[in-house]
Amino acid sequence: MSDGPGVDVERALGETEAIDPPESFVRQANVSDPSIHEAFASNWPECWERAADLLDWESAYDAVLDDSDEPFYEWFTGGKLNAAYNCVDRHVEAGGKNRAAIKWVGKRDETRTYTYQDLHREVNEFAAALRDLGVGEDDVVTLYMPMIPELPVAMLACARIGAPHSVVFAGFSADALATRLARADSEYLVTCDGYYRRGTAFNLKSKADNALLDVNHDVRETVVVDRLGDEMGHHLPSHQRDYGDLLDDHAGERVDPVPRDAEDMLFLMYTSGTTGEPKGVTHATGGYLAQAAWTSHAVLDLEPEDTHWCSADIGWITGHTYVVYGPLALGATTTMYEGTPDYPDRDRVWEIVDTNAVDVFYTAPTAIRAFMKWGEEYPERHDLSSLRLLGTVGEPINPRAWQWYYEHVGGGECPVVDTWWQTETGGMMISTLPGVDAMKPGSAGPPLPGIDAEVVDAAGDPVDAGGAGYLTVAKPWPGMLRTLYGDDDRFVEECWRRDDDGGYRYVAGDGATVDGDGYVTVLGRIDDVLNVSGRRLGTMEIESAIVGVEGVAEAAVVGADDGPDTAVFAYVSTENGYDASEELRERIVETVGETIAPFARPERVVFAPDLPKTRSGKIMRRLLTAVASGDDLGNTSALRNPEVVGEIQAAVRDE
Ligand code: PRX
Repeated sequence: MSDGPGVDVERALGETEAIDPPESFVRQANVSDPSIHEAFASNWPECWERAADLLDWESAYDAVLDDSDEPFYEWFTGGKLNAAYNCVDRHVEAGGKNRAAIKWVGKRDETRTYTYQDLHREVNEFAAALRDLGVGEDDVVTLYMPMIPELPVAMLACARIGAPHSVVFAGFSADALATRLARADSEYLVTCDGYYRRGTAFNLKSKADNALLDVNHDVRETVVVDRLGDEMGHHLPSHQRDYGDLLDDHAGERVDPVPRDAEDMLFLMYTSGTTGEPKGVTHATGGYLAQAAWTSHAVLDLEPEDTHWCSADIGWITGHTYVVYGPLALGATTTMYEGTPDYPDRDRVWEIVDTNAVDVFYTAPTAIRAFMKWGEEYPERHDLSSLRLLGTVGEPINPRAWQWYYEHVGGGECPVVDTWWQTETGGMMISTLPGVDAMKPGSAGPPLPGIDAEVVDAAGDPVDAGGAGYLTVAKPWPGMLRTLYGDDDRFVEECWRRDDDGGYRYVAGDGATVDGDGYVTVLGRIDDVLNVSGRRLGTMEIESAIVGVEGVAEAAVVGADDGPDTAVFAYVSTENGYDASEELRERIVETVGETIAPFARPERVVFAPDLPKTRSGKIMRRLLTAVASGDDLGNTSALRNPEVVGEIQAAVRDE
C-alpha cells in the first residue's frame, strides 16, 4: 500500500488530538443526536428514507432499495420527482420567492443576485427554449461554460425537461470537449463567448468552435451566452443561437417540470479513470438528489437562511452537488465566484465572505495551503464572524493546514468537516457530523450514517485498527453512480469487486487507514488516477496524448510528491532517430495542454533511454514514482532491465 502519491502511513497513524465541536454550534445543528450512527445502522436501508423525505416527490416510491440485479442497484424505485422543481419551484411556492438563490461575484465590483423567483423565471424560459430547439426527454445536453449563473440555470432547465446534462469544465481543451460530446452522442451544446480571469477576458468560444469542427456526429444546436459583450465581439454565425435572444423569444413562458422516475438519469459527468478514455459517470435523479440534500443538511448544516459558498468550479462534481443541487434543494443561498482567490489581492476570498456574510465555506486543501502560505494577515483584514462551519474536500488535508484553517479562518469557533467522496459517489461519504462527532485534524472521520465504508486488505477483509488498506464501500448508497455511460462492463469491472460470499463491494481506488474509533484517514489514490491540486487526471490519458507526439516511442506518467501536493512527471523514451531535445519536450507539454487541458501539462518531462519493465514487459510505475519523489526504490529484482534505473535517476537529477 505504499504505492500512490501522498501516501504517508506513518504520518497518518500518528496520534492527532480530537477536538470536540463547539457547544454553540452543536446547540443549533441540524443533526446533533449522537445516536444517529446507530439508528441508521440498525435500520438500513430504510434509514435513507430520511434523506428522501427532504425532497418533494410527485409520486411515492415503492421500495427504498432494489438490489435484485447487483451491482446495478436502484433506489427509491417507483417514485417520481423533478430535480428542478425541488431546487426552485417548491421554494417559490412555500413563500421564498424573494430569498436569494444565487449570489454571483464576477469581476471587481460586478455582482448579480438571482432570487428564487428570478431563477424560476429564467429556468422556465430557457427550458422552453431548449424544447423549442428540439431537446427531448433523455437527450444529453453538453454544457461547456465558466462560472456564470447561466450554467446552473442551464443545468436546471435541462433537469426540468428531463434532459440529462453533461457539464465539461471550461478549463478542458477543445479536443477534450469533442471527445465528451462524441462519447455522449450529445447533439446540443450550450457554451459561452468567454470569461474573465485576473481582469482579462479569455476566449472560450474558439475552443468550443474547434471542438465542433472535430466532432464527427451532427451537433444540431449550439447556444452561446454573451458574457464578454464587446470585449470579444459577440458575432454568431447564423446557425448558432444567442442565449439572451432565446430568453427574449420565450419571455414569461412556463414549462411544467417533467416527472422523472427516481432512476432516470439526472446527469452524466466525464471523469478520469484508469484507462486512456474518460469515463461517463451517470447519476440518477432520486438517489443523487436525496444524498445531495441530506449531506447538505447533516454535514454542511445548511438552512434556508444560510449563505453557502462552495468554491469549487461547477465543472467538477463538487460544484454539481454543493454549489447547485444540495444547497438549492434546501432553499439556501449559494455563492458563485468567477475569479481567482488572489486577484486583485490575496484577501479576495475573505472580502467575499465578509461582504456576503457567508455562513458555510467549503473549499479544497490546495486552496487552504495557498491561504496559509500567503499569511493570516489576509483573513485578518475582514470580519469573518458570519462563518459557522468550514469544510474541505478533494485531497487529504495535512494537519497543519487543517489547524490553520480552523484557527485563522474559523477563529477556533467553527467545526471543520473534512469530507471524503468522489465523482462516482455523488455526495459525501466519510466525514464527521459537525454537530455530533469530535474532529481529528488530518482524518476525514467516520463513515457517514448509512454508509458502510470499510478499509480492507488485498483479500477483502477489513484491516485491524491502525492498519492500512484499500478504501471500499460494502453496501450501496443512494447517490452512487448507476453505470458508466454506454459501458456497463467497464462499470462492473472498474468499480466493483466480489467478496468471497459473492457480494459486491465498491472499490474507490484510494488507500486509507482506520483508527480505533473508526476514523478513516485517506492516503491518496493507489490506482492510475492522479489528484493534482484536487483535480482528477488519468495517467493513461496523459500517456496516450504524449505517445501521439512524433518522435515519442513510449511514455509513463506518474504523480510525484511535491511537498503535500502532487506533480505530474512524464518519463519519455524517444524513437530511433529522434533527439531528446528541448523542442520535443516543449511539443510534449503543449500536446498534453491541447488534447486534455493546460492543468494536465507535466511539470517535468524526463527523457530516458528505456523505461523500467518487468519480465512480462509491464512498466514498473512504482519505481518511477519513487525516483520522481526521491524515495527509496524498494525491491527491483523483478526488473528485466535494471540498468536503466541509474540512468533515469541521473536524468531526473540533471533536469
Ligand atoms: O483521492 C480521493 C480524493 O479525490 C478523489 C475523487 O476525486 P473526484 O472524483 O474528482 O472528486 C473530488 C471531490 C469529491 C478521491 O478518490 N479526495 C476527495 N476528498 C478527499 C480526498 N482525499 C482525501 N480526503 C478527502 N476529504
